[in-house]
Parts: sequence; C-alpha cells; structure tokens
Amino acid sequence: MNGDTESHDAPGTIFAQVGEDALHRLVAGFYARVPGDDVLGPMYPPADLAGAEERLRDFLVYRFGGPQRYIARRGHPRLRMRHAPFAIDARARERWMELMGASLDASGIVVGPREAIRAFLADVATFLTNRLAHPGDRPQGGPLRHPGSVTRARGHAARTRATSRRPCALP
Ligand code: HEM
Repeated sequence: MNGDTESHDAPGTIFAQVGEDALHRLVAGFYARVPGDDVLGPMYPPADLAGAEERLRDFLVYRFGGPQRYIARRGHPRLRMRHAPFAIDARARERWMELMGASLDASGIVVGPREAIRAFLADVATFLTNRLAHPGDRPQGGPLRHPGSVTRARGHAARTRATSRRPCALP
C-alpha cells in the first residue's frame, strides 16, 4: 500500500488493518461533535446518543470486515430506508463528512486505511442523500446507486466527480 488515493483497499479489509479500538475512537469522536452542531445536532436523538453511537460503530465494524454484531442486533442494514425519516440534503451530507473527517483526522489511523475509510463514508453519504438542496440541483452528481457498485463500476475518478459540488444553475 502506498497511501495514494488511487489505491484504496476494499472496505472489507479495513478492520484487519486498524482494529476495533480505532473504529471506536472514530465513531466516539464523531458523536462528541454532533450535539453542538447546528445542522446535525437537531437530527439525532438527544436521549439515545449512546445507542446511536453503538449502532454506527457496530455497522462500521461489520462493514469493514469485523464481528457481525450489527447484523445480529439490527438485521440487514437497509440504510436508505433507515435514513428516510431524516432530511439529508447536500448541506447535511457535507456537515456529516466534515464532522466525521475531523474525527478521522484525529483518530491516529494511518493514511492508507484512513483514506479508504474516508472514500467509503463519502460514497455512502452520497447514497443516503435524499433531498435536493435547490430546485434543479442533481443529487451529488447523478442517479443514486449502491456505493459498492459506484466504487467497483466507476472507480476513483467518478467517485471524485460524484462527491464534488456542482454549482446551481439557477439564480
Ligand atoms: C449523509 C449524512 C448522514 C446523516 C445526516 C445521517 C443521520 C443519521 C441519523 C439522524 C441517524 C439516527 C441515529 C440513531 O438513532 O441511530 C442515523 C443512523 C445511522 N446512520 Fe446515518 N447519517 C448520515 C450518513 C451516514 C453514513 C455515511 C453512514 C455509514 C457509512 C451512516 C450509517 C448509519 C447507521 C448504521 C445508522 C443506524 C441505523 C440503524 O440500525 O437504525 N449514516 N444516521
């Protein structure tokens, strides 16, 4: 591995590289930032932040190739369906990536797996965007597809395009 963003490892190999503690730190760092955030704070359940932290942590551990606690507790992730009650527009997506990115940068995870995690989260965040920010905007660059297929079928260049912002054509 050379840490180059073109050579992301498959998500399923990340757990073996970083271990459980690093993923705990990553998700704890994200949730420590949520309550004070003006966009995300109101979306998360104030009385069950610890439960929300556990759900995201278990999901990432499972998805990155670790123990399948998430599946045992929650069943199939169905993340689009589970995020449907929340209005996730480009602003919410960007804020989510900002808070998670800050936690990732502070996590001590080395560059190869760190950037693979960032790319995976960005793909899923795009996949979960379910509101248009402005009439005429396209949801983050095109039709919604499962993030696995985005990564495999279109590769890094397309992923970069898909996660970059498009200027709104309307005044
Ligand atoms: C795009 C911005 C996102 C927003 C605004 C958002 C918001 C939320 C909210 C409000 C919840 C409910 C908290 C709870 O009670 O569990 C939630 C749950 C969850 N989110 Fe997100 N999320 C985003 C992106 C992501 C991403 C990128 C992932 C995975 C890589 C993810 C994975 C999850 C999981 C696993 C749950 C718990 C599902 C369950 O089992 O009920 N979310 N999200």
